Amino acid sequence: MIIVLFGAPGVGKGTQAEILAKTLGMFHLSTGDAFRTAIKNQTEIGMVAKSYVDGGHLVPDDVTAKIVEEAMKTHGVSNGCILDGFPRTRIQAEALDAILSGMDMAVTHVVNLTVDYDTITQRLLARGRADDTEQVINNRLQVYENETAPLIEFYKNRGVLRDVHGLGTVEEVSARILSAVQ
Ligand code: AP5
Ligand code: MG
Repeated sequence: MIIVLFGAPGVGKGTQAEILAKTLGMFHLSTGDAFRTAIKNQTEIGMVAKSYVDGGHLVPDDVTAKIVEEAMKTHGVSNGCILDGFPRTRIQAEALDAILSGMDMAVTHVVNLTVDYDTITQRLLARGRADDTEQVINNRLQVYENETAPLIEFYKNRGVLRDVHGLGTVEEVSARILSAVQ
């Protein structure tokens, strides 16, 4: 199974991806985490990514797709993979198809987590990551609407989209996701 956890910033992709990966014994790949690690370690990719992540803008598609391809090839995805925060553009979605088709695989489920923007903003301000300031959160939400939300239609047309309500306790949301992918 290749499961994409999809949704706006702060809907709970990371929280749920970690739980789902443990429950199903699958590889969890978060592009946001990968960029934060690269920035911390001051790698070449980290240097490129820093200004985009700090401002809440998307890191260029080619850089992002490369990091995903390398991680998938290194870890292997034959036991399945939970993608968290990728793809976020049409170009990334097509790059993912190309990577997976080279492995005789395809996206099986796109879990579209939905939470209202007021709750999202409260959650992120309370978390307080470096990019969780009011201005950067607003940028991230705007980027989500412009660049990422159109993928909902793209995956709906393929019949792999599953809408999951993201409000409630972490456990309640996990149970909804599990039943959506089983
Ligand atoms: P990324 O790290 O992916 O950030 P994001 O999309 O803004 O999402 P978050 O990680 O903030 O939220 P989440 O949905 O994971 O929610 P979480 O579980 O943490 O990306 C960061 C940056 O990296 C981007 O802006 C971009 O620059 C770059 N980037 C990443 N991927 C990219 C890509 N594909 N292409 C280009 N650039 C890319 O939960 C949020 C908070 O809510 C937490 O405090 C959590 O404890 C809490 N919470 C979770 N669930 C619940 C619940 N049920 N009830 C109450 N609180 C909850
Ligand atoms: Mg996250």
